[in-house]
Amino acid sequence: MKRVLKWGLIGGGKGSQIGEAHRVAARLDGDYQLTAGALDIDPQRAKEFADELGIPSDRAYPNWQEMLVKESAHSDPIDLVTIATPNATHYEIAKAFLEAGFHVLCEKPLTLTVAEAKDLVALAKRAGKTNAVNFGYSGYPMVRQARAMIDQGELGKVRVIVAEFAHGSHADAADADNPRVRWRYDPVQAGVSSVLADAGVHALHMAGFVLGQSLYEISAHFDSCLAGRKLEDNALLSLRYSEGTIGHLWTSAVAVGQCHGLNLRIFGEKGGLRWSQEFPNQLYWTPLGETTRILERGADYLSPEAQIASRITVGHAEGMLGAFGNLYSDLYRKIVDPVAKPLYPTFDEGLEMVKAVHAAVDSSKEGGVWKRL
Ligand SMILES: NC(=O)c1ccc[n+]([C@@H]2O[C@H](COP(=O)([O-])OP(=O)(O)OC[C@H]3O[C@@H](n4cnc5c(N)ncnc54)[C@H](O)[C@@H]3O)[C@@H](O)[C@H]2O)c1
Repeated sequence: MKRVLKWGLIGGGKGSQIGEAHRVAARLDGDYQLTAGALDIDPQRAKEFADELGIPSDRAYPNWQEMLVKESAHSDPIDLVTIATPNATHYEIAKAFLEAGFHVLCEKPLTLTVAEAKDLVALAKRAGKTNAVNFGYSGYPMVRQARAMIDQGELGKVRVIVAEFAHGSHADAADADNPRVRWRYDPVQAGVSSVLADAGVHALHMAGFVLGQSLYEISAHFDSCLAGRKLEDNALLSLRYSEGTIGHLWTSAVAVGQCHGLNLRIFGEKGGLRWSQEFPNQLYWTPLGETTRILERGADYLSPEAQIASRITVGHAEGMLGAFGNLYSDLYRKIVDPVAKPLYPTFDEGLEMVKAVHAAVDSSKEGGVWKRL
């Protein structure tokens, strides 16, 4: 009989932005049972919501510290813990659960500082535990198709990649004092960067993921378009990758008229690809000198990596929950078979993104000079 993993969730309480996406994603393939949780900063709300979700009362914890102690001592403990709390808590919680021998999926950003991220990478290696960061958009089948096509040489050498995550959600000056907006531009709560660390980093991760290259250096220009903001709400980055590809990233929170705004364009010597998160089931491929073809999610001609990431037949819409679900199914494969090599983003990729954000901040402060990672 199939092994079902016991899953624990920290954060992601009732009304949180990302909690429900994790809960749906984790149960898409029947791989996990939500067994334990410390779901909310408020212990009472944590208990009540755990009850609503059907978590047994003796494993509905008032805080993550108690969950750590009791799950460590449990005769049948959780297999994987997801950390979906605010950014500044990630390091402490991830460290504690790795040290106690649990597999960990952490929300992005992995940590607030490069030193903390390096520490977690080293710890995860020592502990020999599965470790992942939720760059969940890398789970889209057609993003994996793009990666497979580049890997198979369909584009030849990739010359240029252009990534965007530019939305218009924080463009209204009259809304700038809204508590859900304000903290993002407060360095005490958000860290060194706002829109790049929050949104742009997904596009940056995706660019490296499809290229199969690491970031070599960054030049950045940050701007705050709304008066009084202490952190950037618009940023333009130039990128150089390990195997010579040139990259450009635009990220913004003031792009009025753009809805989600996560897009990728890739230009190689033999052709080009483009993909948009708002139309995730299509990948546009233009071989050099030929007309553009539209590759469809679920079709037989796709790579094995894209096919395994699809659940329903061609022509039906599959979206963000399925993409997140693919990270959970990748993690399942890895946990039940440690020699498997599924494609989920690891702590190493989390570290690279933390380094990238800090390099971009430093570059911008110095007028855009190139900064090595
Ligand atoms: N990967 C993505 O696409 C994506 C999207 C949105 C948010 N995120 C990340 O997810 C994390 C959470 O973001 P959100 O927007 O859901 O935040 P949120 O403020 O909406 O929800 C945070 C939840 O964590 C709980 N919480 C806070 N501190 C806690 C603690 N110490 N112990 C237990 N629970 C605690 C809160 O009560 C709340 O339920 C952030 O790191 C954010 O960057 C990632």
